[in-house]
Amino acid sequence: MSKELRIGLIGYGFMGRTHSNGYKRVGDFFPDLAYRPVLQTICGRTEENAKAFADQWGYASYETDWRKVIARDDIDAVDICTPNDSHAEIAIAAAEAGKMILCEKPLARTTEEGQPMVDAVEKAGVANTVWYNYRRVPAVTLAKALIDEGRLGRIFHYRANFLQDWTINADLPQGGAALWRLDVKAAGSGVTGDLLAHCIDTAMWLNGGIADVSAMTETFVKQRMHNLTGKVEEVGIDDACAFHCHFDNGSLGLFESTRYARGHKALYTLEINGEHASIRWDLHDLNRLEYFDHRDDSVVRGWRSVHITDGDMPYMDKWWVPGLCIGYEHTFVHQVADFLAAVEKGEPCRPTFRDALETGKVCDAVLASARERAWKDTGVDWQA
Ligand SMILES: NC(=O)c1ccc[n+]([C@@H]2O[C@H](COP(=O)([O-])OP(=O)(O)OC[C@H]3O[C@@H](n4cnc5c(N)ncnc54)[C@H](O)[C@@H]3O)[C@@H](O)[C@H]2O)c1
Repeated sequence: MSKELRIGLIGYGFMGRTHSNGYKRVGDFFPDLAYRPVLQTICGRTEENAKAFADQWGYASYETDWRKVIARDDIDAVDICTPNDSHAEIAIAAAEAGKMILCEKPLARTTEEGQPMVDAVEKAGVANTVWYNYRRVPAVTLAKALIDEGRLGRIFHYRANFLQDWTINADLPQGGAALWRLDVKAAGSGVTGDLLAHCIDTAMWLNGGIADVSAMTETFVKQRMHNLTGKVEEVGIDDACAFHCHFDNGSLGLFESTRYARGHKALYTLEINGEHASIRWDLHDLNRLEYFDHRDDSVVRGWRSVHITDGDMPYMDKWWVPGLCIGYEHTFVHQVADFLAAVEKGEPCRPTFRDALETGKVCDAVLASARERAWKDTGVDWQA
């Protein structure tokens, strides 16, 4: 008989839905877990919406103040799905109340804001994780296994892009519901903290720490109407960012992100070139991992497109039969499953708050480098 792990989820937007789906599905597909999540309460600021979300998704109750969620004795884990400017306050209060914490990325708007969050969870000794969910796309998880087995040999290059096109319209306002990402006060930064943070987390997981960076950023639309003040205000976020870097292992990295790449909705791609082999992956075709191995016979040597659906691929024994795909939402089911397994074993569920802080250090260095037009050391101490 599995034990209950009662979830208090804060923020019923996009991530509130993906996480709720993860909690609901996990027990059906990972039946051997010792813990079973229970949708105990959902929290949002508008009573009508919170109640409607609770009814639709099957939460036992709802709250309109996150402090009440943290004060409740019947909540074991707090899941933070709110915009970036509230992560620190909620996480620190939850840790002090002894709750486990699952926090959305980026951990915080800056390293300065994130460090007390790490201190709080470590002082309280509570289980914690940050939802850098792309690690749990089976093809990406498999890439990690192939790299760790040494199949690529020495790594020379790592490159990643995360391209979108939804902010090109100069009439789009900034701030408030749905548009908080354009408001630097709420988001902390633009594409760097929102999109490149994903690329950086995956990159350091696959290829080790990033030592130093040289970056450029641009804000293409300099002023936008602010939804909360009703006034036209300066835009403080980076609309686009490109940086190059050195990894601790001596390889070179090249990263680009923008919300101005017409035609691209969420084109997250990565490629790694090693001495023996290369790997590439594309979020728009997430069940495939492309692999080239120079050690193959020359007459059949070439890029293979491996369909990551067989039962011996990461996580895939839990789903359908070979050849049948899974999708974006499954990455969240996988992270819930890994979190519950880690709680059972008393082990950290990576990426932890500490890991996510290291990603934040790279983001801070990228923004500082762009501002100062100079190379910046990141100060990252990456733990494999
Ligand atoms: N892992 C991923 O791939 C991924 C994808 C999207 C967003 N995110 C992250 O998830 C977080 C939320 O993003 P989103 O896209 O779900 O945003 P969203 O705007 O869709 O939802 C945010 C929710 O938070 C609620 N909220 C805001 N302030 C609150 C408060 N004080 N108390 C209670 N509720 C509050 C809003 O009402 C809304 O329901 C952000 O940190 C974002 O960076 C991660």
